[in-house]
Amino acid sequence: MKISSITHPLRDAGILTKKFFQFVFSGNNSELGYQKMIKLYCLTNGYSNSILSYIIRLTKKLKKGNLGLLNLDCKTSTLDWKDNLNEIVAKLSKEGYVVLKTKLSSQICEKLIRFAEITPSSPSGDSQSSVKQCLYNPKNPSAPTYKFTENDLAENLLIQHLAADPYFIKIAANYLGTAPVLDLMAMWWSTAFKKEADVNSAQLYHFDMDRLKWIKVFFYLTDVDSNSGPHCYVAKSHRSGCKPAEIRKRGYARIPDSDLLKYYPASDFKEIEGPAGTIIIGDTMAYHKGKPLIHGDRLILEFEYTNCLFGAPFIPIKIESPGHDFRILKKEIPSFFGKFQV
Ligand SMILES: [Fe+2]
Repeated sequence: MKISSITHPLRDAGILTKKFFQFVFSGNNSELGYQKMIKLYCLTNGYSNSILSYIIRLTKKLKKGNLGLLNLDCKTSTLDWKDNLNEIVAKLSKEGYVVLKTKLSSQICEKLIRFAEITPSSPSGDSQSSVKQCLYNPKNPSAPTYKFTENDLAENLLIQHLAADPYFIKIAANYLGTAPVLDLMAMWWSTAFKKEADVNSAQLYHFDMDRLKWIKVFFYLTDVDSNSGPHCYVAKSHRSGCKPAEIRKRGYARIPDSDLLKYYPASDFKEIEGPAGTIIIGDTMAYHKGKPLIHGDRLILEFEYTNCLFGAPFIPIKIESPGHDFRILKKEIPSFFGKFQV
């Protein structure tokens, strides 16, 4: 055994620890700290993230009475809630994903589709060199995906309202063991332009790794069947210790289905179909992808809630027009707005 095979990981762990505590005290991320986080995640099969998340839980731990959480009033939710919060958190922990019984109303879906029809988006995909924004034309797509800017999404009051929904915040808090931080708002059209996997559009299996721990909430805003881009995931692959060494050696990479099928039973490969309004919550540390579309198009909205913004460097987003929900939440949980500034 080479001495460097021991000393290099120890050196990397030292750098990661130093960069993590630098972030805790200064709030600044670095590319070096981010790269070490990914490298050690792959090397330790996820345990390096688990250890740092444990430290965060200890330092930011919610008081027992607040695990319910934080006096948030669920009456402010517009969702017709049908799920049990504890069951959702338990299933997330066990399986990595859960499809809610609760759905977005057709009125909310229609409003968000209307927003997506009149707001410019950026054509995106493996062969797209230009990022010029345009209105998406469903009759003549010219790229696998059309992505909306986070700034446009963050200024939309309905999207703010959903991101601030007390049910999602309570689920995130219970799963993460800390008061959550809003880390991402995303929306995009997926099209049948290519009809085969587009790497840039996350249509091959991969795990996300921008932060230490997080959940994502996905909303189908159009009907999704097996041929119109269902979200796919490998159940239980989110847990530390559950990714095969042969795959981890490739680092932060896209993985063909056939490679993962060597290590996980076919029954753990899940494909989520559902009507417009379907809500999915996932720990995307699990292997997941969007299945390439054969026909139609798919509009999806996504939020990410994390335990800490340590990881990938980011540019803060100033919200010019915070609505009532964000202003109230800023008072209740100020740390919720570490990246989005209200
Ligand atoms: Fe992903």
